[in-house]
Amino acid sequence: MTRVFVFTNHKGGVGKSTSATNLAYGISALLRQMNAPNCHVLLIDTDQQRHATLVTTGSNNYDHARSLYAVVMAERRLAAQTLMDSIIPSQWDEYLHVLPASKSLEQAERELSGVAGAPYRLAEPLSKVASQYAAVVIDTHPSFSLMTEMALLAATDAIVPAEPRYLETVGLLSVIEKIAEIRDGWRHPNLRISGLLVTKMDRRIRGHRHLLDELSTHPQLGKLLLGVIPANEAVSYAHSQHQSLFGYDPKATASQAYARVAATLSRLISRDRI
Ligand SMILES: Nc1ncnc2c1ncn2[C@@H]1O[C@H](COP(=O)(O)OP(=O)(O)OP(=O)(O)O)[C@@H](O)[C@H]1O
Ligand SMILES: [Mg+2]
Repeated sequence: MTRVFVFTNHKGGVGKSTSATNLAYGISALLRQMNAPNCHVLLIDTDQQRHATLVTTGSNNYDHARSLYAVVMAERRLAAQTLMDSIIPSQWDEYLHVLPASKSLEQAERELSGVAGAPYRLAEPLSKVASQYAAVVIDTHPSFSLMTEMALLAATDAIVPAEPRYLETVGLLSVIEKIAEIRDGWRHPNLRISGLLVTKMDRRIRGHRHLLDELSTHPQLGKLLLGVIPANEAVSYAHSQHQSLFGYDPKATASQAYARVAATLSRLISRDRI
C-alpha cells in the first residue's frame, strides 16, 4: 500500500507547506538514490491558499476543472479519472507531480457540506491511483475543515509540524486528539500519527531549547518527534524563487534537516515495499 503523508495543524504558518513540498521532493530524490523501482511522488494541495501549488509549479492560477476541486466535485465513477487528468508536472523535478488546489476549494466545502459521503471524496479516487506513486504527500489548510478531513481520511500517516513556542506545543495534544477522533469516528484505523516536526527552531533562543527539551521528554509526544528543522532564511529565499530548498541551497541548515527527515520517511516507504 502506498504511504500517504498528510501535513496538518490547525495553527497557521507553522511550516506545513514548506515541509510537505520539500519532503515530497526529498523523498523522491532519495528513492532515486536508493535505486527504488518507483520514485514518483504525488503532492496534493488541499489548501485554497495554494502555497504548495505556487512554489512547486510556479503558478497558482489553475482552472478549477483541472484541479482538486474537479476531483471532489466529480461524479463518483469519474473521480479517479478526473484526478489522473488533473495531475501536472512540478517545476522542481520530473518525478514530483502535483494535484493543484484552486481558489474554488472554499466553494466546494460549502457545496459539499452535509452531502453524504463527502469526507471520502479524496480518499476514494486516490485509493484507485495511489499505487502508481511511491508516496503521496498532502498539504492542508490551517483548520480542521471538510477539506482537511478529506485529506486525513485519504492518508496513512499524519505528520504535525509545530513551532517551538509554548502555546503551539500546548496545542499539540489537541491536534493529536483531533486526528485520533477522525481516525476512530470515521473508522479509518490505518491512519497513524507518524510524527511531530519541530520547525523554525532557533537554538539561540532559550525558550525554544526549553520547549524542545520538554517535548523530547514528554511521555506521549516525545516518542513522536520526527525531526527538528532550524529557522533558516534560505526557506523564504527558496520560496520567493519557487525553488525547492535543496535546489536553492542543499547545504543550508534547513535543507540538511529536511534531508534527514526525508531519509527516515524513505526508509519507511522502502521497508513497506520489501
Ligand atoms: N525553517 C524555516 N525557517 C525560516 N522560515 C520558515 C521556515 N519554515 C517556514 N518558514 C516561513 O514561515 C512562513 C510559513 O511557512 P509555511 O507556509 O510553510 O507554513 P504553513 O503552516 O503552511 O502556513 P499556512 O497555515 O498559512 O498554510 C513562510 O513565510 C515560510 O517561508
Ligand atoms: Mg500552508
